[in-house]
Amino acid sequence: MSPAPTVAASPDAVREAARIIRAGGLVAFPTETVYGLGGDAANDHAIAAIFAAKNRPRFNPLICHVAEAEEAAAIAELSEPARALIARFWPGPLTLVLPRRNGAPLSLLATAGLDTVAVRAPDHALARALITAAGGPIAAPSANRSGLLSPTTAAHVAAGLGDRVDLILDGGPCRVGLESTIVDLSGPRPMLLRPGGVPVEALEAVAGPIDPAVATDGSVRAPGMLSRHYAPGRPLRLDAREKRSGEAFLAFGPADAAECDLNLSAAGDLAEAAANLFAMLRALDRDGFSRIAVAPVPEAGLGRAINDRLRRAAAAEEADDWNDERGPSAPCVLPDDDDTP
Ligand code: TXA
Ligand code: MG
Repeated sequence: MSPAPTVAASPDAVREAARIIRAGGLVAFPTETVYGLGGDAANDHAIAAIFAAKNRPRFNPLICHVAEAEEAAAIAELSEPARALIARFWPGPLTLVLPRRNGAPLSLLATAGLDTVAVRAPDHALARALITAAGGPIAAPSANRSGLLSPTTAAHVAAGLGDRVDLILDGGPCRVGLESTIVDLSGPRPMLLRPGGVPVEALEAVAGPIDPAVATDGSVRAPGMLSRHYAPGRPLRLDAREKRSGEAFLAFGPADAAECDLNLSAAGDLAEAAANLFAMLRALDRDGFSRIAVAPVPEAGLGRAINDRLRRAAAAEEADDWNDERGPSAPCVLPDDDDTP
């Protein structure tokens, strides 16, 4: 891709950016915290393109950006504490992890196959105008390559991802300059997953005590939460070359249609495979199959992220031995930092 145009804020620029998002393209846009790399939160292919552009080694779930609280209610279940925090802190640098609403029009890849969704309403006129014009939530991680710092100017984005996005909306330097605070409200007690733009004390004044997910000595207070990742109920057999009796076969690359139940990408395209991964695992996790066999996926580019998720899903049974709070087939996450390689 040739370097993306950087355009100054204007109604025309917002319209063009929204058109690109609706067409499945990627737009870097300013928020009050850092610049985001945005795509249509309902479009698996756009989300896979985000992971590819960042070289993100894992399918870490993405934050879905909305313009208003009502839009959050369309994709997530808003509890009383959630509504109280939203009323006080939105729009602003607060992300809430909430139960995903049944039938929410969201890409499974955007939420990494989880039953929760991270939502936030950014406090930036350009971001809000873009979300409204795009007509739905925009999924966006920070607009940096994996392992590098989050960008706080359009020039940072151009330097890191200029050849990997369709358009960069320039809104000047970000006011907060540090990512949003993330609070998980999907469990029995509120939990701080990431300190950020809103101090936790301010949140506690509204929501009561919020447990840190990681204690100050570095020990993990909530191992069940931190090890959560998506896993189908049926066991997985990885690097499978053939379909065995009772198995569902998930192919990758050219394969005899009669031999495979679904194909991540017949063309061997990793972005297509990433876009299909969670939806296909769910589709094959059903009666009639005792196990899901998955063909080898090359360990390169997005293939590393695909294999990471497959290995975690395959290892889930082991993890569930100590994670008794969630059943053996419960979906779980790894909310490690965005850019942890
Ligand atoms: O300020 C911000 O939050 C910026 C701007 C662009 O909005 N975004 C941002 O996104 O920092 P990202 O992808 O770099 O970090 C999002 C974090 C990741 O660590 C991810 O694991 C966590 O949010 N996350 C997203 N969905 C989650 C979920 N359902 N459960 C737990 N953690 C989640
Ligand atoms: Mg990030």
